[in-house]
Amino acid sequence: MKIIKTGSTRLVILTDKYAIKIPRCCIKSDNSFYGKTIGFLEGWLANRYEYKWYKSEIFDFLCPIEYSFLFSMVIIMKKAEPISYDEFFELKQYNFAYEHKVDSYGKINNKVYIIDYGN
Ligand SMILES: Nc1ncnc2c1ncn2[C@@H]1O[C@H](COP(=O)(O)OP(=O)(O)O)[C@@H](O)[C@H]1O
Ligand SMILES: [Mg+2]
Repeated sequence: MKIIKTGSTRLVILTDKYAIKIPRCCIKSDNSFYGKTIGFLEGWLANRYEYKWYKSEIFDFLCPIEYSFLFSMVIIMKKAEPISYDEFFELKQYNFAYEHKVDSYGKINNKVYIIDYGN
């Protein structure tokens, strides 16, 4: 198990098969009550949007979400493996609003998915 705290709005717990995403409430730059609350809400919204987009079934390149709890305060996504820079440079950008950077992507069974799409 691994805990990733470097995401912009969420804390991610990686298990063997899953990535569990929950809102972060301690954004380093602003530790006030207001900052924490906004940070938490941003993380929650990102989870909501991810779940909404995944459930819409419009796109086949969004990393699958298996479960959503507490109005998406907690979402459980399939774990994807990081892609290399070589793979990244060969990628064609998907037609979706997201940040085209190497850690927005992950691979499952050799298919590349977007893993950070909560816009
Ligand atoms: N499905 C996933 N599989 C593997 N790692 C993931 C997955 N989702 C997120 N991560 C890891 O957690 C980090 C933060 O997740 P991310 O979705 O980017 O959250 P944030 O929106 O807060 O930036 C990612 O950069 C990646 O390292
Ligand atoms: Mg991110």
